[in-house]
Amino acid sequence: MPTTAETLPETAAPTRFRPEVPRPRRTPMGLFEFLRAARANPLTTWMEDHFTLPLVAGEGVLGRVTVVSEPSLIRHFLVENAGAYRKDDLQRRVLAPGLGEGLLTAEGDDWRLQRRTLAPLFSARTVRGFEAAMNAAGARLARRLVRRAGSQIDVGQEMARVTLDVLERTIFTHGPQNDPDALARAITRFLESVGPVDPLDVFGVPAFVPRLGRIRARPALRYFAEVVDGLIEHRRAVMARGEAPEDLLTLLLAAQDPETGQGLDDLTVKANIVTFIAAGHETTANALTWALYCLSQDEAALARLEAEVDAAADPEGNFAAERLPYAKAVIEEALRLFPPAAIISRQALKEDRLGRVKVPRGSLVMVSPYVLHRHRGLWDDPDAFVPERFLGEARAAIPRFAYLPFGAGPRVCIGQSFSLQEAVIVLAHMVRAVRLALPAAHPPVTPVQRVTVRPGQGLRMEAVRRAAAA
Ligand code: HEM
Repeated sequence: MPTTAETLPETAAPTRFRPEVPRPRRTPMGLFEFLRAARANPLTTWMEDHFTLPLVAGEGVLGRVTVVSEPSLIRHFLVENAGAYRKDDLQRRVLAPGLGEGLLTAEGDDWRLQRRTLAPLFSARTVRGFEAAMNAAGARLARRLVRRAGSQIDVGQEMARVTLDVLERTIFTHGPQNDPDALARAITRFLESVGPVDPLDVFGVPAFVPRLGRIRARPALRYFAEVVDGLIEHRRAVMARGEAPEDLLTLLLAAQDPETGQGLDDLTVKANIVTFIAAGHETTANALTWALYCLSQDEAALARLEAEVDAAADPEGNFAAERLPYAKAVIEEALRLFPPAAIISRQALKEDRLGRVKVPRGSLVMVSPYVLHRHRGLWDDPDAFVPERFLGEARAAIPRFAYLPFGAGPRVCIGQSFSLQEAVIVLAHMVRAVRLALPAAHPPVTPVQRVTVRPGQGLRMEAVRRAAAA
């Protein structure tokens, strides 16, 4: 008999914080119930079997779907036999209209060329070079929180603001010269207009049938494209004078395929600017939001983090990410409980086999990091917030394919170390400056999957200034 969500707490330490989440279902839903639930919150559609069995395959609205949660089968699917799969049509239909043919959506030779060319932009050395920009954005956020001490803060909004600030500083260094806020405005409008999944996409209605959300998005997309065009033109001129800052835009414009020496055309440069912003903004913001929420409910973890952060700050109040191992563990644990990218899905280009189960050509295969990270067979007390899992020997004992917030294999997130470094530094600035508490009357904080995984009713917290901030 597999363990269920109800029986689990008997074996679990009672003192740890266990955030509320949708309870896994015991019985399957009918078609219309499923469609409604999938649109409102896909996290409510998972069944107990998904959290207990290594693999669940069945026929559904999307045809045959195989959900795999066994580490060695995931390794086969995402790494060893990755060539037998491609990103599925649903993802492409949802993402391509906004992102163009950037790294996230490209396929085949085009993707290979882009990945080779873009890899140096996210190398360990380049990412370390962004520490100053991340510290500047973190310090600015901390000042804002200190100013607003005593009042309620919309945490999701603040985290979105700081991750956007980091992207602006690391991609462009400065916004347009004559209007520094234009870029932030353009990005915010663009992101706001890319709404939840359109049901027309789920049913495979061809792209020429207009979608409401996409029509609304057009002016924002146009405005965004104009602002970015202006920035590229200006940057080319600055580069020609040999005065360009070392940011992602300069690196993108100078990037060359190591095999052919060829650069990227303007369309691909633009598609990747949009891609970095879309892929790196809300994901990291949600990781920070969930980390703050969990910390507000776990005094011991917060105290340990405050002690680490106070000791690690340099005389200017800045941080080196490598001196913050507990902050990193907190972020990694938040990414385990609430992985911002809750689904990694592919379509089989040819027939495959996952263990004893046949995967027909054309069918969908998925790993859900949300399910995998709470799988009863893989984790101890899976629903509890325990950052210590990610320290020392405990960290080393986690099987590589049991923890996939950034995916795995050839299409693993290119921004992984960028976003971990960013989240750790920003968290340190906040924790040093203020304590954030959940108001007594706050509605339940439960996750909803809307592109990324976020608190369904938002998260408002009260900031109290810490003595260390003085
Ligand atoms: C907590 C933050 C983040 C999470 C959880 C996350 C998650 C992921 C995941 C799961 C994938 C793989 C998708 C798949 O295999 O289908 C991915 C790919 C990608 N991510 Fe991230 N990401 C994060 C931050 C970032 C940042 C900061 C950037 C860029 C600045 C970025 C850029 C990308 C790109 C370009 C890809 C596509 C890579 C390829 O297909 O070659 N991500 N991300």
